[in-house]
Amino acid sequence: MIQQTERVMSSAYMQWAKTHLQARFNLASSGLEPFPLAKLPVKIDNLELTGPSFYGYEPLQKALAKKCGVSPDCVVAATGTSMANHLAMAATLKPGDEALIEQPTYELLVSTAQYLGAKVKRFTRSFEDGFRLDPNEVARAASKRTRLIILSNLHNPSSALVRNEALKQLGKIAREVGARVLVDEVYLDALFDDAPPTAFHLGDEFITTNSLTKVYGLSGLRCGWILAEPALAKKLWYLNDLFGVIPAHAAERLSCIALEHLNEIAAHARHLLETNRRLLNAFFNARDDLDWMPLEFGTVAFPRLKNGSVDALCALLLEKYETSIVPGKFFDMPQHFRIGIGCETAMLAEALARLGNALFDISARRYPRSARAGNSFSLRWPAKRERRGQKRPQRERSK
Ligand SMILES: Cc1ncc(COP(=O)(O)O)c(C=O)c1O
Repeated sequence: MIQQTERVMSSAYMQWAKTHLQARFNLASSGLEPFPLAKLPVKIDNLELTGPSFYGYEPLQKALAKKCGVSPDCVVAATGTSMANHLAMAATLKPGDEALIEQPTYELLVSTAQYLGAKVKRFTRSFEDGFRLDPNEVARAASKRTRLIILSNLHNPSSALVRNEALKQLGKIAREVGARVLVDEVYLDALFDDAPPTAFHLGDEFITTNSLTKVYGLSGLRCGWILAEPALAKKLWYLNDLFGVIPAHAAERLSCIALEHLNEIAAHARHLLETNRRLLNAFFNARDDLDWMPLEFGTVAFPRLKNGSVDALCALLLEKYETSIVPGKFFDMPQHFRIGIGCETAMLAEALARLGNALFDISARRYPRSARAGNSFSLRWPAKRERRGQKRPQRERSK
């Protein structure tokens, strides 16, 4: 159980993200490169500043319901997945309630629950187990006080998929203790045609959140939503009256246009991610200074640095190579770092080359004699490793 003395009023991760995502070579972002407005067939006549948006703008409600295969009275529009998560938690957690949250996870899921006064308990998804969600871990951690079980699917930071069988078991655990399950599905569409239906379909205890921000590169639209059973959906709409009241109507209109063209936007995203995933996996394959899992789908990977400090790596990477990654400390796993692959392919290739060079420099710091002698690495260390069949990492050339 995480003990708090003062109310959480900010997010260290978000402050870091807002000030570090601007590096020239950005591997820190978890979403796709921005999809430009110019590529959407928008005419000025399509837009209006004010419109009939009270408990939802009907055309947007219908478009989201169609996309998700649900009835419109289960859809609550929200400002991004961020506000969707906030609303979902605010409607289901009272101060003192227990929120059971995966570890590691997206930091905002934890800090939002803490801000709302929930007692946060964690269940582990371990690197050694491929960050698989083990329902037995959840069952062990759940108690009569648990009101919400919270996870991301795909998982941030690893992109691991939680399949329906495991989700159904979570539903059963939640029902037994009188809790609900909140599944943040903001990365699920990165499976494209292979994406399973939203977990909302698995039962009334499921609440899911999503948006067009990450997989479609449409962050600026802030088009997010919650799926919840109709009675809870109504409660969420009324609760939203205390927060944003109504959204920017022009953004609602643009969201409808984006949803009409989602297939084309998805085709671009799919092609980019498939190409970039091959590049990342080839990079991983050539390294013996990282522990990693091949990235099968999704937008982010979460490798582990075998030796040395990730904070030192991040600082060097930013200062010398103008490249950003997310340090694992924001996921309470300081030996890991998160790499996002949603940028343009040439940019990713260059950023990975720079990361390779920073990893080389970090090793050279640990083995300075060999670096001074002009060798890539000391004879002692790599020779031993090469005898074990491991490849010698080489300094990569920046293009
Ligand atoms: C798991 C998760 N949920 C929600 C968000 C925020 O999404 P949005 O930009 O739609 O508010 C992020 C952003 O990184 C995320 O990783």
